[in-house]
Amino acid sequence: MSGQPIVWLNGGFVPLAEACVPVLDRGFLLGDGVYEVIPAYGGRLFRLEAHLRRLEHSLEATRIPFPFTPREWRELLEELIGRNGGSDLSIYLQVTRGAAAHRDHAFPEGVEPTVFAMATPIRPLPRRWLEEGISAVVLDDIRWERCDIKSISLLANVLLRQQALDADAQEAILVRDGQATEGAASNLFMVIDATVITPPKGHLLLPGITRDLVLELAEEGGMAVAERPIEARELATADEIWVTSSTRRVLAVTRLDGRPVGEGRPGPLWTRIHAAYAAHVGRLRTEEPS
Ligand code: PDD
Repeated sequence: MSGQPIVWLNGGFVPLAEACVPVLDRGFLLGDGVYEVIPAYGGRLFRLEAHLRRLEHSLEATRIPFPFTPREWRELLEELIGRNGGSDLSIYLQVTRGAAAHRDHAFPEGVEPTVFAMATPIRPLPRRWLEEGISAVVLDDIRWERCDIKSISLLANVLLRQQALDADAQEAILVRDGQATEGAASNLFMVIDATVITPPKGHLLLPGITRDLVLELAEEGGMAVAERPIEARELATADEIWVTSSTRRVLAVTRLDGRPVGEGRPGPLWTRIHAAYAAHVGRLRTEEPS
């Protein structure tokens, strides 16, 4: 791509530097909005329907009107990809409740949601993360109780991720009432006795799109799979720990709180899942456009 990124804002495509929202936008003042991060590989949107279903869930839960039909979203996002040179892009889209005339917690009347979408090149993951795995720390989950909503109010996630980085770790694994739920910006998997385990969906974690794919790939690969709560103390006995997200795909956590996980390097099931994931993305790249 040459030139400036082109973004979508409230009904039109504009160069990034020209995209402005009013300071009274409730996303800016109150964090009153929701978002999605959708990868595109070879210009093809990854699991768009699932991302849009989750967006609809977030919008319904926050009572923000759904601005587009799924078909309109697809057209908009495909055009955004085209205008930004196709290939491997991460789509960020955000819908806020809009800009009202005054700052007030109560929902304003007659305000249109603000819709913003941008596409940025997907950067390759550091080779070291794939070869050696990443470090994580276990932290108390200080977030609210609707973690199933992909809310732009991310202050707790931001603080938790930074606390991990400050401890020379790449992710925080969050614990609430003795149970490990997910990462600061990822879902959590653990392997014990060759069974791939991840906590069930619910209001204390985000229903990750990558999580679902990893579960599918594990089952297709003949692995034993269980969706059940993970006790925080079980993490110390795990043979493997993985975290998943649209941006980080599936990464092995090989050090937890400074101690090795299993043998301290990416485990055999991670190696298989990672290869299956790469093959899946490879197929998406060469698929006929829908
Ligand atoms: N975050 N849990 C949390 C708290 C997350 O923020 C994310 C992703 C996930 C994984 O969901 P998915 O597989 O659908 O990306 C789980 C995105 C990438 C972000 O905030 O940038």
